[in-house]
Amino acid sequence: MAEAFDVVVIGAGPGGYIAAIRAAQLGFKTACIDDWSRADGKPAPGGTCTNVGCIPSKALLQSSEHFDQAGHRFAEHGIGVAGLTLDLAKMLARKDKVVTQNNDGILYLFKKNKVTFFHGMGSLAGKDGDAWKVNVTGVKPAELVAHHVVIATGSKPRPLPGIDIDNDRVLDNAGALAIPQVPKRLGVVGAGVIGLEMGSVWRRLGADVTVLEALPTFLGAVDESVAREALKLFAKQGLKIETGIKIDSVVAGKKDVTVTYADSVGKATTASFDRLIVSIGRIPFTGGLVADTVGLALDARGFVTVDADCRTNLSNVWAVGDVVRGPMLAHKAEEEGVAVAERIAGQHPHVDFNTVPWVIYTAPEIAWVGETEQQLKARGAEYRAGSFPFMANGRARALGDTSGFVKILADRKTDRILGMHVIGPMASELISEGVVAMEFGASSEDLARICHAHPTLSEATKEAALAVDGRTLNL
Ligand code: FAD
Ligand code: NAI
Repeated sequence: MAEAFDVVVIGAGPGGYIAAIRAAQLGFKTACIDDWSRADGKPAPGGTCTNVGCIPSKALLQSSEHFDQAGHRFAEHGIGVAGLTLDLAKMLARKDKVVTQNNDGILYLFKKNKVTFFHGMGSLAGKDGDAWKVNVTGVKPAELVAHHVVIATGSKPRPLPGIDIDNDRVLDNAGALAIPQVPKRLGVVGAGVIGLEMGSVWRRLGADVTVLEALPTFLGAVDESVAREALKLFAKQGLKIETGIKIDSVVAGKKDVTVTYADSVGKATTASFDRLIVSIGRIPFTGGLVADTVGLALDARGFVTVDADCRTNLSNVWAVGDVVRGPMLAHKAEEEGVAVAERIAGQHPHVDFNTVPWVIYTAPEIAWVGETEQQLKARGAEYRAGSFPFMANGRARALGDTSGFVKILADRKTDRILGMHVIGPMASELISEGVVAMEFGASSEDLARICHAHPTLSEATKEAALAVDGRTLNL
């Protein structure tokens, strides 16, 4: 006899587990199915984000930043560190502990909110009257029926054609988070978000890192002035970034990996690395999700086709997160998860992609929301720009972290903020002010007239807003 639910969510990443919690909060009898397991076979809800994405990468970014600071930056504060050592096994174990704490936190939240959790693969098997049949396979198989199904099955790494990921010499994001010894020479294919974050981790721990990027431009989606500054700062740190390359072959040996590629002028080049990370984007994951007879529509790139409200072509079947169009970000997945649960309850929520913030957790961090200057130029927008460097910010000087700037872009006529771009310390936190301002339709003058605590990094945001009108106070 099938167990009946109002809502069944397939996938417990940030899109799925948040959708399940919100649905339960709204009074629906809710189940969530996820197949991710820990090494000991226990469930590991949280998806890519918790297990091999946001959380472990940020744990290692923090640990490696501490190591880098202790080795290179403490001296200017008058702190001597004699005999600095690195216990990589302990650092990786801490990262794993942070992950399991998050897994357990989600299981606790399911209990607290009365979401029934099933550990296994979920598949949409067809209709049972008005309801959908969902089968769970795994340790404890189950048959469920539900009025609404939310697909939140996420994404997987995009493969480089003809290249095997063995997660020993040639690594995807999971392997990149678990290298057992600091490689002397680390290659990274793809200068995107993962390449730069993981490249930074291993560079700080002592690796000689080379990043090979296919596109001729570096960080093309980022505001050009920020990308230029980032390239300069990363080069200063010793991260070698080659753009405009074309990979010809990757041959993994027992002890190293040989990569042959054409460089930006087409010259054949060979490079050897101890390990190679391949991070060339991610693709939607729908393996084993639906029986062929169900007829769930996918687009040409394999994303589940949805409308603006995350409705699929099947009635009462919704899809959220990385498996659908839009930015592949945990917070975007969460917002869609909440919105779908509320739509099922008859509410009218709205997710605005234009105010989804982006963060790259390098040092300095890079964060932005809204349009870039090149996007504004391309659409012929009339705008004004204001920037303020952290070099002139008292708190940044006290921190000893003065690289980068805040930049605000505002409509020339209405002064409405169109974008905010930050490269510098705590950019990930500073960007929230821009998101809030844009959500409330604020002008740059609004930001400039708000009292900001002194001394804070956020004063650079106020000064950038003042700069839009050419009246900075501290520069
Ligand atoms: P996922 O998190 O991929 O979760 C999907 C879940 O569904 C998985 O557990 C999967 O096993 C399960 N599943 C799939 N099919 C089935 C099935 N049929 N039955 C049962 N279960 C199934 N984003 C940020 O916003 N900030 C960051 O700092 C950040 N860092 C990242 C770092 C790395 C290295 C990577 C790889 C990604 C990072 N991301 C980050 C992106 C973020 O992880 C994703 O955008 C986010 O996880 C998407 O959430 P999701 O719920 O759509 O899918
Ligand atoms: P990405 O899309 O950010 O970057 C991939 C890079 O690889 C691009 O610059 C692309 O031009 C390049 N590339 C593609 N094919 C190539 C080839 N054959 N040879 C060389 N270069 C090639 O993808 P990435 O870094 O894999 O991350 C996937 C996604 O995960 C991100 O887009 C983001 O959505 C999410 N993520 C978010 C993070 C955050 O929010 N801080 C951190 C890490 C990942």
